[in-house]
This record gives sequence, structure tokens and C-alpha cells, in this order.
Amino acid sequence: METLQTLVGDAKLVAFTGKGGVGKTTCSAATAVRFANEDERTLLLSTDRSPSLSDVLGVDVYGELTSVPDVEGLDALELDFDAVAERWKAEFGDEVYALVSSFMSVDRWVVDYFAEAPGIATQFALAYLLEFYRGDTYDRIVWDTAPAGATIGLIELEEKLYAHLGDAPKFYAKLRAAISRDVAQDPSELLEKWRVLAEDCLAMVQNDDTAFVVVTNPETLAVAETDRITRDLSKRDISVGAVIANRLLSAELCDCDFHTERVAMQKEHLAELEAAYGDSPGLVAVPQFPADIDGREPLADVATWVFDRSDWKKSTTAE
Ligand SMILES: Nc1ncnc2c1ncn2[C@@H]1O[C@H](COP(=O)(O)OP(=O)(O)OP(=O)(O)O)[C@@H](O)[C@H]1O
Ligand SMILES: [Mg+2]
Repeated sequence: METLQTLVGDAKLVAFTGKGGVGKTTCSAATAVRFANEDERTLLLSTDRSPSLSDVLGVDVYGELTSVPDVEGLDALELDFDAVAERWKAEFGDEVYALVSSFMSVDRWVVDYFAEAPGIATQFALAYLLEFYRGDTYDRIVWDTAPAGATIGLIELEEKLYAHLGDAPKFYAKLRAAISRDVAQDPSELLEKWRVLAEDCLAMVQNDDTAFVVVTNPETLAVAETDRITRDLSKRDISVGAVIANRLLSAELCDCDFHTERVAMQKEHLAELEAAYGDSPGLVAVPQFPADIDGREPLADVATWVFDRSDWKKSTTAE
């Protein structure tokens, strides 16, 4: 087994992805607490639409960048997608209105219509992350993503938008010719701005300075999802920095039938994970904890496994 210490190194952006419920938020919060404790200015950001960072940290971080009490150097934020849509309107609303109203009789509602279009706020969420990534307020950004499908979808959206916007100016030029009206606003400038933004967001997730960590559990469905995620990411030239096998049961804790059966089941799946990811990118083991993981101390305990301990096999009789 390995640790994130070596696998993730000093990546500025560390993104946690994985199937629903596997422990993404737990591992991201533990990682962020560890970075901050090592005097790195850290942002912990969630783009999950039903996030639980506030519950795990014990402080409300919804919609507003908030310093986490008792963890110096750590700010956290659960993204409010309505606020993101408002930011989009503030930044692009006037141009979108000028553009659309130049060939159609419309009112300002058109801006709301676009802002609420599927994908706009999601796309802009990545642009928001990009601002922090480029800025120098934080040494580390820990990104607690939505369950994998949504996150892959988010990246796919950037890809599609990027590909589409390459052709879009031609489309609008034809449209302009077809309606044979003088269009006051030249769309190409706005579209080029979006294209560059989409390109930059993709570059951010593909950068060497970014590490994706796939969190999983030693169970059939989670292992299958891990395979899909790593394939989907590498198809997009996004490298997976590490896989975390979370919630491992130790055989020595209990010898009841139920527990023995689960340990045997986990052992099989852990072997699959080791075969697939042990050499590359590397597998990190985190045990099942007996109690809820919220607050600074339990998170620091999880961080010990994530960052310092590579002795899972030695500590158990599970092999
Ligand atoms: N190693 C562990 N030991 C014990 N409990 C754990 C462990 N890891 C996670 N949990 C618990 O499992 C539950 C789900 O964890 P978490 O919220 O981190 O998952 P998630 O992947 O972020 O879920 P979602 O997909 O809903 O965002 C939480 O109650 C958390 O405390
Ligand atoms: Mg979560």
C-alpha cells in the first residue's frame, strides 16, 4: 500500500471523485485538514449539489467562503449553484442580451433563460474553480466532487462546449446572412471568450499540477465504478493520481460469521483493486472507523491513514 504523501506530491489541485457514498467528502476533508496543519493555505471546495461538507466540518460553509474554526489556514465552501448562475449573468448577461436582441425581439428574460439552461451553472462552476487555481491565495485546493457521473459529465460538457464553440462563429455568420439583418453585436468575440474559458477549464483538470484521487470501497459495484471512472478520465487525458480503498474491515476485530464473511468478500475485492491499481497509480488503504467521522480529530485520524500509513496488510490478518 502507498500514501497520498508520495502519490499526490505537491499538486495544487487535488480532486476526489468516486461512486456515491464511498467517502469522497470524508477523504477530501481529512486531506484539507492535513494540508492546513502543514501550514499550507488550503481551500476545500465542494461542487456537489447535495453536499455534506458543512456537516463534516461542523460549520456552515454553504454559499460563502468560510474559515474553518480551529483549523488555521483552511477555508471551505459548498458551491451555491444559484449564486454561480448570478455570477454568470453579471459577467455575460449584457453581452448575451445584446447579441440575442440584435436579431430577435426579446426582453431581458432571455438572460435568465440562458442562465438556467442545463449546463450553464455547471460549466461556470469549473470556471469559478479555475479562478482559485490561477490565483495565489491558496497553496492547495481540495475539490470534493459530486458522485462520479456528474463530475465526468461536467468535464464532458467543457469538452463539448469547446468543440462546439470552435464551429459556432461560422454558424452565427450563416444565421446572420440568412436573416439578412444588420446585427449590432458581433457574436464571435463572446463565443471566443467562452471557448477560451472551456479550453482553460479542460487544461486545468489535465494539468500535471492536478491530481485526481478515485475513492472506492472493496465492494462489487464500487470496484466496477472505479474501473469506469479511471477509463473515462484517462480517455480525456486526465491522469489518476491515486485510488483510495476506503472502509476496509480488519479480520482481527471479530470472528463472528457475519464479520468473517464480509472480511472475505472485501479481501477478494481488495485483491482486484491491488491488481488493477497497486502498481499504477498506487493504492491507499483506509480502514473502517467505528464512529462517525466529523470534526477535527476524527478527520486527522483518517488523514493519518491517507498520508502516513502504508502498513494495512501488516496490521491485519486479512491476507
Ligand atoms: N473509513 C470510514 N469509516 C467509517 N465511516 C466512514 C468512513 N468513510 C466514510 N464514512 C462514512 O460514510 C458516510 C459517507 O461518507 P462520505 O459522505 O464521505 O461519502 P461521499 O462519497 O462523499 O458521499 P456522496 O456521494 O453522497 O457525496 C459518512 O457517514 C461517513 O462518515
Ligand atoms: Mg460527498
